[in-house]
Amino acid sequence: MRKKKKRRRVVWLSISSFEKKKKREMPGEKELQTATPGDVEVRYRRRNRKPWQGILLFGPPGTGKSYIAKAVATEAGESTFFSISSSDLMSKWLGESEKLVKNLFALAREHKPSIIFIDEIDSLCSARSDNESESARRIKTEFMVQMQGVGLNNDGILVLGATNIPWILDAAIRRRFEKRIYIPLPDIHARKEMFRIDVGKNYNTLTDQDFKVLAERCEGYSGYDISILVKDALMQPVRRVQSATHFKHVSGPSPKDPNIIVNDLLSPCSPGDPHAIAMSWLDVPGDKLANPPLSMQDICRSLAQVKPTVNNTDLDRLEAFKNDFGQDGQE
Ligand SMILES: Nc1ncnc2c1ncn2[C@@H]1O[C@H](COP(=O)(O)OP(=O)(O)OP(=O)(O)O)[C@@H](O)[C@H]1O
Ligand SMILES: [Mg+2]
Repeated sequence: MRKKKKRRRVVWLSISSFEKKKKREMPGEKELQTATPGDVEVRYRRRNRKPWQGILLFGPPGTGKSYIAKAVATEAGESTFFSISSSDLMSKWLGESEKLVKNLFALAREHKPSIIFIDEIDSLCSARSDNESESARRIKTEFMVQMQGVGLNNDGILVLGATNIPWILDAAIRRRFEKRIYIPLPDIHARKEMFRIDVGKNYNTLTDQDFKVLAERCEGYSGYDISILVKDALMQPVRRVQSATHFKHVSGPSPKDPNIIVNDLLSPCSPGDPHAIAMSWLDVPGDKLANPPLSMQDICRSLAQVKPTVNNTDLDRLEAFKNDFGQDGQE
């Protein structure tokens, strides 16, 4: 069980679909911000208006559910953030697992306001059945009691769950997550923003129009798919250098100090180029190799190879669950 306090890494702004300037929000962002226990109590002091005690994030894989939790952890301010996974709670000793669940909640109550984040909650809280193990059932029971039990005060505690197969969850556990927020695949604007975030500060020649075209062509890609696509594209210039047979001298920022422009850098070129020198990349000294920019062609080449990971069958099931029990994070 790990306890995290004030970890500054992922902030709301590093998650696309959240741009204050354009008044667009990340899916479920408003709910999560007002649900952060400390915030509601301290900032609003709303009497008789209790914040949500259980929020379930569900959606296709790679849409940033775990990533959102990281942002919540960072932005939680005074709240204590507990991040646990099912393996943390599994013990081979009889009765030990329930005790761990109990201790977790006891600790959260002690350090409130606190947030308990359980990633991949489906593995812990699937529907109860006759042929499951005794210990699995006990964990679920303890969870249900701890989340909403008689005589237990859960004020100031938010349980945040994430899953990509929400229909597996036990109905009683599902009820305890009062808010069920669907984190869908990114729309065109979010995809454009994701490309920008992923390309980041890497040396590139991409224009605003290029980002727009890429976003249009990546319909059905998740945030994770886009990050893989850009990662692959960033390797394309490296591959080009490795397979080049001719290089030519160019000027550009020195690899040692980008503020100094030097004229003797070597960059791959076609053998027909008038200034081409026949050599392989192994002959080029490390500090003389020009840093090739990431271009639109590089991304297009990767686009032909990197396919989306989510298929329509998965989406249909998630959509059906959303219609039955959930709420769209983008509404
Ligand atoms: N909205 C987003 N903004 C920026 N990056 C994103 C976004 N969504 C996904 N990513 C990228 O995809 C990666 C994977 O996201 P994450 O692990 O949160 O997916 P997940 O929804 O938890 O998937 P799974 O359901 O499989 O656990 C992140 O580390 C991040 O780089
Ligand atoms: Mg995840």
